[in-house]
Amino acid sequence: MSLGSSANRTNVDQSSPRSAEQLTSLLGRWDDGPGSLHRRLTDAVAELIETGVLRSGERLPPERRMAAALSVARGTVVRSYSSLAEAGLVDRIQGSGTRVVGDSEPLGSPDATRSNGLFARHGAAIDLRMAMPSMLRATSDAVDRVRFDGIDATTLADTEPAGLFALRERIAAHLSRQGLPTTAWQILVTSGAQQAIVLAIAALVDPGDVVLVEGVTWPGLTDAIAQRGGRAHGVDLDEEGVRPDALEDAIRRLRPAAIGLNPHHQNPTGSRMSTSRRREVAELAAGYRVPIIEDRALAHLAFDGQVATPLAQHAPQHLVVDSINKVAWPGLRIGWLRADADLIERLRPVRAMIDLYSPIHSQLAAIEVLRDWDAIVAERVDGLRRASDLAVDALGASLPSWRFVRPRGGLVLWAEVPGGGAAAFCDHAARHGVLIAPGKQFGVEAPFDDDHVRIPFTVPEPLLIEGIDRLAAAWQSFERTTTAYPVAAVV
Ligand SMILES: Cc1ncc(COP(=O)(O)O)c(C=O)c1O
Repeated sequence: MSLGSSANRTNVDQSSPRSAEQLTSLLGRWDDGPGSLHRRLTDAVAELIETGVLRSGERLPPERRMAAALSVARGTVVRSYSSLAEAGLVDRIQGSGTRVVGDSEPLGSPDATRSNGLFARHGAAIDLRMAMPSMLRATSDAVDRVRFDGIDATTLADTEPAGLFALRERIAAHLSRQGLPTTAWQILVTSGAQQAIVLAIAALVDPGDVVLVEGVTWPGLTDAIAQRGGRAHGVDLDEEGVRPDALEDAIRRLRPAAIGLNPHHQNPTGSRMSTSRRREVAELAAGYRVPIIEDRALAHLAFDGQVATPLAQHAPQHLVVDSINKVAWPGLRIGWLRADADLIERLRPVRAMIDLYSPIHSQLAAIEVLRDWDAIVAERVDGLRRASDLAVDALGASLPSWRFVRPRGGLVLWAEVPGGGAAAFCDHAARHGVLIAPGKQFGVEAPFDDDHVRIPFTVPEPLLIEGIDRLAAAWQSFERTTTAYPVAAVV
């Protein structure tokens, strides 16, 4: 990996250094591979700087603390920081520590997160970075029925942090219908699956703890772990989800506090855990007393109608995270955490601290959405199946060298870019008027693989087709520059 320029990085507040635990978590398996320890550490930190995870102006942890967090000699960190300084990636200023180069401007210190790249603004290009389903006729009909008549403004029961009781009951019935008997007391209504993930991590993970996750995964999960001071460790996955042998090996070696999985039409790989593997993974984790946080946000988007039952069916200690957002409409922002009633009770004040409770209008809308669930799922799945077929056909016709598995559900297609350099290709594609996310953005630990891109098929169909046309045009000129270079070098 090259130690490249720092030209396009965002600036951040430099007042307080990133904690050694957070940086350790972002570095992941930095010490795997050949070469001296200080060289590997240098390369791993350089990669975080080059991919924008560590930003201009950000201060690195003091050497002594970093050495303690990484369990290496202080001299290893000193040499590594010096190499980064020689490469022009950091400044070392007497008395104020080590800082990623570039001018800093105070932005209220928003920590760099992996999700950042997905939300960054960009001009008028076709934006295929976010997997954001549109509003549906059936959702709009359900929301139209919302009335405030049932709300008793005199009791303040509506300000309950765990959610309206009528909604908790409906969600409990929804889960019971999926094969997991549940009571309203086991449900905490949240602002989407994302908030449920953050709360579950807050409940189960202490700073320094390891959390096992799929080797590439939704950055909202790994960001939540890093924010908590935990360390996400990626486990190998194949088309059926995480590999049980790899999971067991990691549990034994790392003694994780929790396992976070999104096993259904996984974001970003699209893999779907088979029924037999679901049982195996659920029982394996339970045998080691490690709770699984099962993210079901994409579970219902099954093109063949096969919605898997929750892992907690096999071992009740596992948690469920879910939402109506991907099926009905993300703007409703209603999700939930299902856990044992004591844990839900403990999380009520934590949730209240974040945002008190979910908007009542959205909670009432969620009750209506769950009433019409099957019709709404049918409309959503129909549209996504069609869009996925369109994307598969267009990619097959215009980018025949790219490899991918036809999605069985979900919102995205995970394509392997021949020859690697996926992140550079995404930059190149932006100049051709189309934005896509490189696979690196979903990597859990450095060094990140750079051979995939993620293509959501949630934009309107004409934009999807035009976007793929632009990708194909970008690929032609990208292939030309990358193949021309080695030939010229040989000559
Ligand atoms: C796997 C996964 N989990 C959770 C979320 C967040 O879901 P919600 O919109 O319900 O907060 C997403 C969003 O894309 C996701 O892909």
